[in-house]
Amino acid sequence: MKIIRYTALIAALIMPLMLVACVGAPGAESSTHPVITAPEPETLPPITPVDTSDGPETTEPETTEPQTTEPQTTEPQTTEPQTTEPQTTEPEKDPDPLGFKEDLSAYEKYMDPEDRDGYLILVNPSNPVGKDHKPTDLEPLVDTRPDRSKRYMRLYAAKSLEAFLKEARANGCKDVTVTSAYRSYDSQKEIFDGDVKKLMEKGYSEEEAIAIERKDTAYPGESEHQTGLAVDMHNLGAASQRFAETFEAKWLEENCWKFGFILRYMPDKEDITTYVYEPWHFRYVGRYHAKRIYDLHMCLEEYIEYLENNG
Ligand code: DAL
Ligand code: ZN
Repeated sequence: MKIIRYTALIAALIMPLMLVACVGAPGAESSTHPVITAPEPETLPPITPVDTSDGPETTEPETTEPQTTEPQTTEPQTTEPQTTEPQTTEPEKDPDPLGFKEDLSAYEKYMDPEDRDGYLILVNPSNPVGKDHKPTDLEPLVDTRPDRSKRYMRLYAAKSLEAFLKEARANGCKDVTVTSAYRSYDSQKEIFDGDVKKLMEKGYSEEEAIAIERKDTAYPGESEHQTGLAVDMHNLGAASQRFAETFEAKWLEENCWKFGFILRYMPDKEDITTYVYEPWHFRYVGRYHAKRIYDLHMCLEEYIEYLENNG
């Protein structure tokens, strides 16, 4: 009986629950029951804009983006390399780098010849020239001493000498004129023989006279006067070492290289040249070599050897 009573009790408790389950818990689906659909949302009235001109700002505060100040990403000023066209033209040459007082531009090509090595001819007792050697481009010299017959030099030497003496005068040199220039073999022989004769007349033997004369005057065929590239010039009655003491001799000696000349027989080179100092005798070689010879303080014999060893 007890069991029946319990069963009735349990049934009484469970029945309502089962009923609820059959009607349906909210949201539960069952294929055997009508689907409970959610009610349609009410249609909301349209929002009429609110006039906020007098009131406080109701607009959303501006959402200012956090200051994302970009790190300075601007490229560092890369100064573009100068793209100006490379200088293809020769830098302008100083028209007068040697500071001449005279306008010697017309003489420039002679003083600094294109044929740079063409005038490095060495004539001395060890290097004689033939009896018949005679240059083909001899030109009369404008500065020949007036009481002498016209003297000649090779074209480039003649023009350069003209410039040399023009500039010498512009710098205060007075009365320097040409007493000798090109000499043929025969005229050299005449000078040499004449001087030997005078020495012999003074009592020297022929052998002694020749030895003395060879210190001053080249034996025929051994004189560079025969090349047409040598010149004697001074302002004395006759060539003398006294000329060395004059302003003119000093100016000529210091400046000769600018015009392509060298002082050929220097006082401290007598042992090499075999001739005594001749402050009046200049030799044309062209400016390039003249400057080097001047700077190196060499005589032509030394310089030719220097070139053979050093180029
Ligand atoms: N006086 C120079 C050496 C010459 O006669 O050539
Ligand atoms: Zn001479």
